[in-house]
Amino acid sequence: MIEASCRDWHPSTHATRPMTPERKRLVMETWQSVAADHDRIASAFYERLFEIDPHAHQLFANTNMVDQRAKVVAMLTDIIRDLDHLEALIPVVIALGRRHKDYGVVDTEYDLVREALLGAIGDALGGFTPDVRDAWEEAYALTAAVMKRAGERAAAAATP
Ligand code: HEM
Repeated sequence: MIEASCRDWHPSTHATRPMTPERKRLVMETWQSVAADHDRIASAFYERLFEIDPHAHQLFANTNMVDQRAKVVAMLTDIIRDLDHLEALIPVVIALGRRHKDYGVVDTEYDLVREALLGAIGDALGGFTPDVRDAWEEAYALTAAVMKRAGERAAAAATP
């Protein structure tokens, strides 16, 4: 299972090229550069998400958003730190994807989360340069691909 999902991150089976060291560095450095703003970024992210995705708003109806912002910031920080350590990262992202299936998240919402999250991060950075935008888009696409695949497999395994 883990090996199969590792292939999502691998150049031979992914439509995009692997993340270059330069792109990983750009994501790490820009995320660190706005460390003081992480909670505000999370706040802006969910505000945008709820505007463009009413279903997400419903899913979070009973969620403590103070805790949720802290959780999403911690998870993003872990993911970004481990872009260079896929053996540690992949199982964490697989488990996250399975939990998201249980929350009732549907695949099309990953694009809406990308739009809201990258929009919030871009604003905090005072705008993306093209290179930084590409680096973030790729990191997000790879994470979302592993999460969606894990969710699909969990659902298929649960079907009698
Ligand atoms: C890269 C993408 C994403 C990341 C890193 C992420 C991260 C997280 C984290 C860390 C949690 C806390 C609970 C846990 O660890 O399981 C969480 C919960 C949740 N996320 Fe996400 N998420 C992502 C995508 C999405 C998408 C696409 C949706 C769709 C709307 C979504 C909706 C939810 C919901 C409904 C919860 C549960 C809230 C609750 O506990 O009440 N997430 N997410």
